Amino acid sequence: MSISILAIESSCDETAASVCRDGTILSNIIASQKIHEQYGGVVPELASRAHMQQIVQVVDKALHDSKCEIRDLNGIAFTQSPGLIGSLLVGSQFAKSLSLALKIPLIAVHHMQAHVLANLIPSSTDGVPDPKPSFPFLCLTVSGGHTQIVLCETATEMRVIGETMDDAAGEAFDKSAKLLGLPYPGGPLIDKYAKMGNPDRFKFPEPQIPGLDFSFSGLKTAILYFLQENTEKNPEFIRENLPDLCASIQKRIVSILLNKLKKASVQTGIKNICIAGGVAANSELRKAFEEKGIKNHWKTFIPKFEYCTDNAAMIAITGYYKYLSADFASLDVVASARAEWI
Ligand code: KG4
Ligand code: ZN
Repeated sequence: MSISILAIESSCDETAASVCRDGTILSNIIASQKIHEQYGGVVPELASRAHMQQIVQVVDKALHDSKCEIRDLNGIAFTQSPGLIGSLLVGSQFAKSLSLALKIPLIAVHHMQAHVLANLIPSSTDGVPDPKPSFPFLCLTVSGGHTQIVLCETATEMRVIGETMDDAAGEAFDKSAKLLGLPYPGGPLIDKYAKMGNPDRFKFPEPQIPGLDFSFSGLKTAILYFLQENTEKNPEFIRENLPDLCASIQKRIVSILLNKLKKASVQTGIKNICIAGGVAANSELRKAFEEKGIKNHWKTFIPKFEYCTDNAAMIAITGYYKYLSADFASLDVVASARAEWI
């Protein structure tokens, strides 16, 4: 019997739905919320309203594109945590209602575990299947809210062995972008301008944090003081040097991430290494990760671009593995803004 899972993701500002059959993604629909741009960040109340407005069409389209009949679904997976509580509630109530109406299991998914398992989504390049990591593997998960090194023993057993003590890598990108006067979310814009800049022009400090944990707040402060000092001397400093500033900031964030990842590999002896999360869409991180992999004899894996930033395909693949181990949630499961691994 084949297993079809409908998955819903609504943890932040993307309303997303996906259908997977036996671990293969049949559809992957995302409605992004543009409304937040004018506020320089996600406004939680507006995000939940937008989810309410979009969720029916998004789920309908995911089902339609998958050519899967609603009566053929075997389970409904949804993002239970972490995220904005009002946003999570929209997706979780929708998933619960469907599970109840269709009398099929409900599967609660942890958003960060799903980012890690995006690496297991079957994909191909020019018709050739991409290799996938075997267990155990390490995953550097870098998003707008988290920065973690995860040791993954199986699809359902993983633990965090290093994480940020303050800002996430995505926040380091977005906050740096804000200091440069760029709109939210600034990460992709830093990536874009950096392509035209010299990454060695400005040197920003690398924090000396023991162990496998990260810290980005010192870097942010260093950038702030550096920009203040230089714009006092030349008010046009940022405008005249934007590509070099972006390239230099990006280079430092990427080196902080990859130096810790190397330390984790040495400590654990694991050389199957993945990256995941929205910041894994960063072109310099992808390139530098591959280069570091060649140098250190790692087998490296990066999800397809569309599976790095928030999406429901990663919820679907996680839901599929949880379905296989009969890890179902009851209807009184509650969405949670912050949650332990589930
Ligand atoms: O995983 P994600 O889509 O959402 C969360 O779960 O947070 O990650 C969003 C983060 C944002 O901080 C965004 O600026 C960053 O990923 N991001 C990037 C790039 N694309 C997305 N950062 C740097 N370069 C990119 N190309
Ligand atoms: Zn995410």
